[in-house]
Amino acid sequence: MLHDPNRIYIFDTTLRDGEQVPGCQLTTSEKIEIALRLEALGVDVIEAGFPISSPGDFESVVALSKAVREPIICALTRANTKDIDCAVESLKHAKRPRIHTGIGSSDMHIKYKFNSTREDILQRGVDAVKYAKRFVEDIEFYAEDAGRADDAFLAQMVEAVIAAGATVVNIPDTNGYCLPDQYGAKIKYLMDHVKNIDQAIISVHCHNDLGLATANTIAGIQNGARQAECTINGIGERAGNTALEEVAMILKTHQALGKYTNINSKHFYELSGMVSRMMRMPVQPNKAIVGKNAFAHSSGIHQDGVLKHRETYEIMNPEDVGIDQSSIILTARSGRHALKHHLERLGYVLEKINIDDVYERFLVVADSKKEIKDDDLLALMSGEGSERNYKAGVTVKLLQVMCGDPLVPTSIVRLDIRGEMKEAVSSGNGPVDATIKAINSIIEKEVDIKDFHIDAIHGGSNDVSKVNMRIKYDGKHYNGYGFSTDIVAASANAYLDAVNKFI
Ligand code: KIV
Ligand code: ZN
Repeated sequence: MLHDPNRIYIFDTTLRDGEQVPGCQLTTSEKIEIALRLEALGVDVIEAGFPISSPGDFESVVALSKAVREPIICALTRANTKDIDCAVESLKHAKRPRIHTGIGSSDMHIKYKFNSTREDILQRGVDAVKYAKRFVEDIEFYAEDAGRADDAFLAQMVEAVIAAGATVVNIPDTNGYCLPDQYGAKIKYLMDHVKNIDQAIISVHCHNDLGLATANTIAGIQNGARQAECTINGIGERAGNTALEEVAMILKTHQALGKYTNINSKHFYELSGMVSRMMRMPVQPNKAIVGKNAFAHSSGIHQDGVLKHRETYEIMNPEDVGIDQSSIILTARSGRHALKHHLERLGYVLEKINIDDVYERFLVVADSKKEIKDDDLLALMSGEGSERNYKAGVTVKLLQVMCGDPLVPTSIVRLDIRGEMKEAVSSGNGPVDATIKAINSIIEKEVDIKDFHIDAIHGGSNDVSKVNMRIKYDGKHYNGYGFSTDIVAASANAYLDAVNKFI
């Protein structure tokens, strides 16, 4: 791992530092699922857990060691033989094991946490590295609370643990205290003052207490660190850790930094959703890279710009992070350009529409609503006498579903395809799934459902459901809208509304 100085190694600690958060605990099988996605994402190291902390953590490190082949599997310990023995045991099936051991390095930790001296702590760190090295070649040492440690003492500690065999030395800003220039200067100080620094990789591990985790990580990288420790969605203790997706996209977007990673960023959006769901930790809508609004435009000026040339208001391509396209949200602040874009997307022939007239009516509706959805536009256009540029060639003639506990959800569908009747029966994991599968077996098309929203118009159990769907077929996206008092029928209508646009 010592060669190319511009290659930044990504150390993911979602399953250790991230999972430490109350309420975020995962089962071993959930951890395996996430670890395999992290492997596909291209992370270099997966910190799988802190084996001595609980039997569950131990078991997870064992399971991940068996399941993951490419990335290094890392286990955390404190600087003592009991922790290290336990970690060694948990890693015995790992193809590429690493032990991550360490001890406090700030005077605050030395005095109040350990009631000890710098000399004693340094010796305990060195002894832990030497002990771990007997069993595992790859040893990472962490100097906890390095952000607040005295630089000269930190340099002494780093030099001693490298001499003892550490292959990577982690300089954590455990409490998220540093400013970016301070943290960058700390890394530079170590690069300049530790004699054997060329024999190890310096790693950055920043917490987000002041909202500076990502900025500090980048400052560390700019000053010589070659490994960044991060979590998906930035989850972690208190205000969290550095967000992996942010670091990777900063390095990709700012090519002038000359640094690169092995990350395939197209996996970000999906992995972010998976981590959020499994850990029950919602992603804030304005979260950089993976938030719901990260590529959504709502002001008229921005919408106009993006529709003319995406890069006017987007520094990254949404597809690069796994989001199909930027979204233009229709609100009272939207202009004609955005309105036309959505009408066209719904299949209206713009030449046949008096857009000024529609825009005026649109503003009246938009003033009373936060966001204008497809069904609002369809209602708005219903009095217009305007044509949509496709004819519904495929319609549902019969829909019959059987579901309930313990039945296997099954759907019978009869479609009218331009006068010809075709029927199919399918089962699925629910009545909607069974119905879509039955439709697919009739139309014989490879369709991918990308978005699927069901809303009740007023809220009661006898209410009308409205379904918005976005599907992908042959590389293109199509939207569909359907409504009915029956949610399965509403879903089938929405699906066919979208399918009719290409069939
Ligand atoms: O924040 C921290 O200091 C840590 C260490 C245990 C690496 O998570
Ligand atoms: Zn941490």
